[in-house]
Amino acid sequence: MKRILIVLIAAACLTACTKKPSKEADMDKFITDLMRQMTLEERIGQMNLLTMWFDVTGPRMSKGVEKKVRDGLVGGVFNFWTPNAVRKLQDTILTQTRLKIPLLVGYDVIHGHRTIYPIPLALASTWDMELIEQIATAVADEASADGLHWTFSPMVDIVRDPRWGRVSDTAGEDTFLGSEIAKAMVRGYEQGDLSKQNTIMSCVKHFALYGAAEGGRDYNTVDMSRIRMYNEYLPPYEAAVRAGASSIMTSFNEIDGVPATGNRWLLTDLLREQWGFDGFVVADYTSVSEMENHGSGDKAKVTEMSINAGLDMDMVSEYMIEELPALVRAGRVKESTVNAACRRILEAKYKLGLFTDPYRGVSDERAKSQIMSEDKLALSKEAALKSIVLLKNNRKTLPLDASKKIAFIGPLVKNQRTLLGSSAAAGNWKQVKTLWDALESKYANNKFLYAQGSHLVENKLIQRMTDQQNGNVIDDRPAKQLIAEAVQTAEKADIIVAVLGEAYDMSGEAASMSNIGLLDNQKALLKALKDTGKPIVLVLMNGRPMTLQWENDNIDAILETWHTGTRGGEAIVDILFGDANPSGKITMTFPRSAGQIPIYYNHKNSGRPFSNDSKFTVKYIDIDNSPLYPFGYGLSYTQFEYSDVQLSDSTLTGKGAVTATVTITNTGDRTGEEIVQLYIRDLVGSITRPVKELKGFQKITLNAGESREVTFHITPEALKFYNTDLKWISEPGDFLIFIGGNSETNNRAKLTLI
Ligand code: NOJ
Repeated sequence: MKRILIVLIAAACLTACTKKPSKEADMDKFITDLMRQMTLEERIGQMNLLTMWFDVTGPRMSKGVEKKVRDGLVGGVFNFWTPNAVRKLQDTILTQTRLKIPLLVGYDVIHGHRTIYPIPLALASTWDMELIEQIATAVADEASADGLHWTFSPMVDIVRDPRWGRVSDTAGEDTFLGSEIAKAMVRGYEQGDLSKQNTIMSCVKHFALYGAAEGGRDYNTVDMSRIRMYNEYLPPYEAAVRAGASSIMTSFNEIDGVPATGNRWLLTDLLREQWGFDGFVVADYTSVSEMENHGSGDKAKVTEMSINAGLDMDMVSEYMIEELPALVRAGRVKESTVNAACRRILEAKYKLGLFTDPYRGVSDERAKSQIMSEDKLALSKEAALKSIVLLKNNRKTLPLDASKKIAFIGPLVKNQRTLLGSSAAAGNWKQVKTLWDALESKYANNKFLYAQGSHLVENKLIQRMTDQQNGNVIDDRPAKQLIAEAVQTAEKADIIVAVLGEAYDMSGEAASMSNIGLLDNQKALLKALKDTGKPIVLVLMNGRPMTLQWENDNIDAILETWHTGTRGGEAIVDILFGDANPSGKITMTFPRSAGQIPIYYNHKNSGRPFSNDSKFTVKYIDIDNSPLYPFGYGLSYTQFEYSDVQLSDSTLTGKGAVTATVTITNTGDRTGEEIVQLYIRDLVGSITRPVKELKGFQKITLNAGESREVTFHITPEALKFYNTDLKWISEPGDFLIFIGGNSETNNRAKLTLI
C-alpha cells in the first residue's frame, strides 16, 4: 500500500513538473488549434513581413499589400502607424480574412517614436542605465499608443569604425557597456510582460557583426575570427537575448563566408542551441533576396537556405510566400520547419495579446494623452542634457556669460531637422525648437548676434542632401559672401559660438563617409572666425566621432552635442550658459585622422607595443598613435580627483570576491556628475588579451569639495574570457585593476587570481 502511494505521488509530481505552466499550455493549445485550420500557404503567409511605406530604409517597396493581407499571405507590416490606420488594417483582417489572424505592426522606433530622444550614440554617452531603461519604457508607451507592437531596436552592433554611418544608431565600441545598454533597452521595451498594452516587442539587431563592415562601408563584407566574435562582438546580442528579447533581426553581412540570413551556425547552433533563444528571427530588409547577390544561389536555393538555417520571417523579399510552398512539396524544406517558424510568430502575437484584442493599446484618448506628453518631452530634455560631452574647455571659456556680446554663427544655429538626427522615425522636425529659438525664449532681453556663415553641406553631398522638405536648406549665396557676413558679425562680439557639424542624413543607414572631419566649407568658416582673434566655442551637432585635430589645437572650447532630439536646443542652451553641467563621456574613440581607423581602446598589446623610443614598434610615422579623445573621456565644469586604488585583498580565489575602492573628490567649485570607470587587464593568458577592458562603471554626483568612496566588487567572472576552445574561463595569474575617469587612466593596483 505504502509503495503504491509513493508511486502515485511520484507520478503526480512528474506530471506536475513536466506540465507547462497553465498560461503557456493555454497558448500552445490555442496555437495548435489555430494552425490545424491553416493551409500551408497561410502558415507561410505568417512568415511574410511587408512594408507599407518607405520611411527609414529601402530601397524596395512592397506592392499590393492589402490584397495579400486579404489573401492571408501577410503576417506583419511595418513603416505604418497611427491609431486609425492600424485599426483599419486590423478591421480588414477581422472582416475579410478566413482566419482573422491579427497583423503584427512594426516600425524602426530607434530613439523615440514621436518624441525624439538623443541618437543612440548620444544616449550611450550618458552611461545611465536607469535613464536608458526609462526612455525605452516611455518610447514603448508612446509607440503602442500609436498602434505599434514591435520596434526594430535595440541595435547592439559593436563598431570601431566611425566612417560607418550607422555608428549613430549604436552604443559605440565597447562590449561591456554595449551589453548593459542592450539589457536596459529590452527591459524597458518589454517589461517582461508583453501583455501589458504599453509595452512593445523588441528586436535585437543586426545579428551578427553588422558593425564590422570592411572599410566602414555599409552592407559590406565582414571577416572575423571566432575568438574575436565571442569575446568582443557577440556578447551584446547574447545579453539582449538573455534579458528576454522576443525577436532578433539578421544582418546584411556574411559570417565565415555565409550570409547571416542563411547561416545555420549563427541562427540555430549559436542562437537557439547555445543561447536558448525561443523568440523569432526576422530577416533584415530584402536580405533573403540579397543572398542571390552574395552568390549563394538562385531564388529557391536562398529561400531554402535561410529557412533551413533558422530564419522565421522574411522582410520585404517575399521569397517565403513565392518559393516555400514548392520547396516543401519537393521535400527540400520540411513542413515541420515551416510549422515551427509559423508557431513562433503566432506565439509572439499571442503574448502581445493580439488574439484577445487586435486593436491592442490603440485608442484616441491614449494617443492624445501619451503622444508627446509633457513628461516624455521633459525626459527627452533630461537625456539631451546628460548625453552632451564637453571635449575641451580652455581657461574656462564655458559656461558663457549672458551679459557678454555673443555671436552665434553657423548653418546649424537655426536648423530644426538636424537636432532630431537620422532614424528619427515618426518624429516631426517642424515641432523642434532650434538652438536659436531656445536662446530667444530663455534670454528674451538679450540681443544675440547671428550669421549663417556657411552652407550645411557642399559639393557632392549637396545633391544627396539638399532637401527642403527635410530641412536641409541651401540658399544661393556664395560661400565667400556667407563667410564675409559671418566675420563682420563676429567682429562685433566678445565671444563666438560656432554651431557646425553634420546634417542629419550624413550618418545613419547608407551614410558612410571617408572624411569624418568638418566639411571644407565649414572648416573655412571656422578658420576665418579664428582669424578674428576672438575666443571661440565650437558646438558640434553630428552623428559620429569626427576628426577634430585642428579644432582641438585652435578652438577654446568644444561641446559635442550629437543629434540631441526634440528638446535638444534647450538642453544645449542650458549647458552653454551653465544652468546644467556637462557629464557625458564618449563611448567611441575619436581619432586624430581617419587614417588611424580602426582605433579603439581595448586593443591588443602586440609583440612590438607602441613606443616613442623605438622605430620598430606598432605605429605610423606621420601621426601619433594615441587618439584625440579616448573612449570614456569627457570633461565637466568642475574637476574630479581620484585617490589610489585600494584592493580589499591582493589575491582572489576561484569562488571569492575582492573589492576595489577609490575616493573621488570634486575639487572644483560646482556640483558635477562623474562616470567612474573600472578597467581590467589580464597580464598573461592562453590567448593574447587586450591592454584594458571595461568591467564596471558607476555614475556619481558630488557637490563642490565633496568626497565619496566608490567600490567595485570583482569576482572571477569579471576576469573570464573565451579561450581557443571557445570556453568561458578565467586563468590564474596577475591582473591590473584600473579605476579612473576614462580609458587612459593609469590609476591601478595589482590583483592575483589563484
Ligand atoms: C534596414 C535596416 O538595416 C534595419 O535596421 C531596419 O530595421 C530595417 N531596414 C527596417 O526598416
